[in-house]
Amino acid sequence: MENALQGKRVAFLGAGKMGGIILQALLKKGLLKPASTCATVAHEERAKALAAKLKVSVGTNNAKAVKGADIIVIGVKPQVVEEVAREIAPHLTPRQVIVSVAASVPTSMIERALPPNIPVIRAMPNTPCILGSGMTAICKGKHASAEQVALTCHMFDVVGRTVVVDEKHMDAVTGLSASGPAYIYIILESLAEAGVKVGLPRDVATLLAAQTTLGAAKVVLETGDHPALLKDAVTTPAGCTIDAIMELEEGKLRVTLIKAVVKAAQRAKELAFG
Ligand SMILES: NC(=O)c1ccc[n+]([C@@H]2O[C@H](COP(=O)([O-])OP(=O)(O)OC[C@H]3O[C@@H](n4cnc5c(N)ncnc54)[C@H](OP(=O)(O)O)[C@@H]3O)[C@@H](O)[C@H]2O)c1
Repeated sequence: MENALQGKRVAFLGAGKMGGIILQALLKKGLLKPASTCATVAHEERAKALAAKLKVSVGTNNAKAVKGADIIVIGVKPQVVEEVAREIAPHLTPRQVIVSVAASVPTSMIERALPPNIPVIRAMPNTPCILGSGMTAICKGKHASAEQVALTCHMFDVVGRTVVVDEKHMDAVTGLSASGPAYIYIILESLAEAGVKVGLPRDVATLLAAQTTLGAAKVVLETGDHPALLKDAVTTPAGCTIDAIMELEEGKLRVTLIKAVVKAAQRAKELAFG
């Protein structure tokens, strides 16, 4: 797809960890021009530091930032989204589109805080976006068009893969892929620790664990084969892997991961409401 963002002015309200990752990636890839990009944060000192680092206009005034913007990305914490939406509401027109990356906050909640007919889209990215290996789920609010959804996908395709889902799935997405990198880091850390336990130097153990995780994920994505089938291919009868699998089953790895995602998804339902 050619650069659908060409000529667009984008304002990032809340350029923290996640907003900052997306903003920097789009600038780095040349999809946004510094002159047509601006951002806000809460603290003046951070605004100055970020402006110096990214060479874009960064301030603390959200109302000023949205004037003339085509796309407004909201990257503040869930509890602050409604407040920011009310702050910018008097300055918006329906030709602008709001893209919120906040967990938990429904598009309807943002729409209610804005004037009628403002298009709102939700995107749920994750931190591997920092290396272009992110996963972002996208859903539309009541007034957003298919074209605006496609434009949002184009933005997030720059930092990884995208999938369009119904909004009812967004809390589940939050529990699985947005929080997911944390689960994988714990698994990686544990595998590296295991490598040390069986005598490997820590750096070698970490490399083996990380590359194995990356390789297994790539095989799932590229073959489309069911993970159980791929696991069976590694598991020789009476071999080593089946002994390890027995330990994983006894340690309830599967049910623990399932319960972790369920808990995170449940928490995602509450966050926006305090
Ligand atoms: N981190 C993740 O893995 C992840 C994944 C998916 C979605 N998200 C979502 O991304 C959002 C931000 O999370 P984060 O981890 O990036 O948090 P963060 O690093 O704390 O970023 C929040 C940013 O918002 C700024 N801010 C606070 N109040 C503001 C206001 N009234 N106007 C403008 N800017 C304001 C903060 O400014 P200062 O820097 O000056 O304090 C900070 O830069 C959350 O809604 C979260 O659900 C995060």
